[in-house]
Amino acid sequence: MRVVSGIQPTGKPHLGNYLGAIRNYVKLQDDAQAAGGECLIFIADLHALSLPHDPAELHASTLELVATLVACGLDPNKAILFNQAQVPAHPEMQWLLSGTARMGWLNRMTQWKDKAGKNREGQSIALFTYPVLQAADVLLYQATHVPVGEDQKQHLELARDIAQKFNNDFCPEDAPLFTLPEPIIPPEAARIMSLRDGSAKMSKSDPSDMSRINLQDDADAIMKKIKKAKTDPEPLPSEEAGLNARPEALNLVSIYGALTGQSVERVLSENGGQGFGAFKPKLGEALVETLAPISERFRALKEDRETLDAILARGAAKARERGTPTLAAAYEALGLVRG
Ligand code: TYM
Repeated sequence: MRVVSGIQPTGKPHLGNYLGAIRNYVKLQDDAQAAGGECLIFIADLHALSLPHDPAELHASTLELVATLVACGLDPNKAILFNQAQVPAHPEMQWLLSGTARMGWLNRMTQWKDKAGKNREGQSIALFTYPVLQAADVLLYQATHVPVGEDQKQHLELARDIAQKFNNDFCPEDAPLFTLPEPIIPPEAARIMSLRDGSAKMSKSDPSDMSRINLQDDADAIMKKIKKAKTDPEPLPSEEAGLNARPEALNLVSIYGALTGQSVERVLSENGGQGFGAFKPKLGEALVETLAPISERFRALKEDRETLDAILARGAAKARERGTPTLAAAYEALGLVRG
């Protein structure tokens, strides 16, 4: 079992990242250990170059994200925690896969279409080829399990397509090089939505801070954001079907269920008939209960620059070692001569 996943250091990590992905990194680091496998989690700082960025901010937020991941329960003694920029095999492998990935495949990526909008010609090449780097990230380590939110599913399917084509084109039938990775998506929190618009994903790039709960928000900010979260005037239904066409209500109920380990059905059977005036404070409290210890640990860690640098250096050394055999095999399969 090889668990591999990444998270971008742009913007502040939020509840969607936590419930959709980070919580599963923490769970899977233990599952991997129990199965005699390994878990590699990285800060996708190279991916951050695909959109305009401020170098000083990128540097600071990379270190803050390490502190956040550790605060969330990722243990650098159990998982290999590193940033891509310290492991050149990632962009190397990306180039080796670039002869296999197809323009048509990348053109179909919904994130490319959404982020580029009407101005495709003005986008960086990195924004277009970004999913090939993402494929390299997981294929380099022979990942079996990739914990992600629903929005990354298409990128993972692309990684599988690239792996399969490379195996077909360059490897003997009985000795494929790349393992096909499986996405691990939590059904209860696959897609946490914005607090201001139930049809948009909660996102680091939303200009409104009221649209998301940041993992570093304090209790007052959390309660205020939940109080102001968009809802409708109807009370909560007693059954799931009653949430059809009520995306904001469904989102709040799903968040509450994900935090308390209950299904939507169960949350409704206990809270059906309540108005949001009663349900929102309950949700706010559940959020504070989960996030307060995380932000406390984060604050204690984030100034400890030496520890954060050391975690990344140690993780990167291990990651470089883990990636070496597959990178060498990819060079060889392609017929490239290396001394
Ligand atoms: P990123 O940084 O946008 O998000 C990190 C993780 O959080 C999940 N996520 C969500 N889950 C549920 N609801 C939401 N509203 C929500 N928003 C974000 C994402 O699905 C992701 O799992 N391209 C990736 C980073 C990456 C990567 C990889 C992931 C680079 N290489 C290799 C896996 C494997 C990204 O931008 O995630």
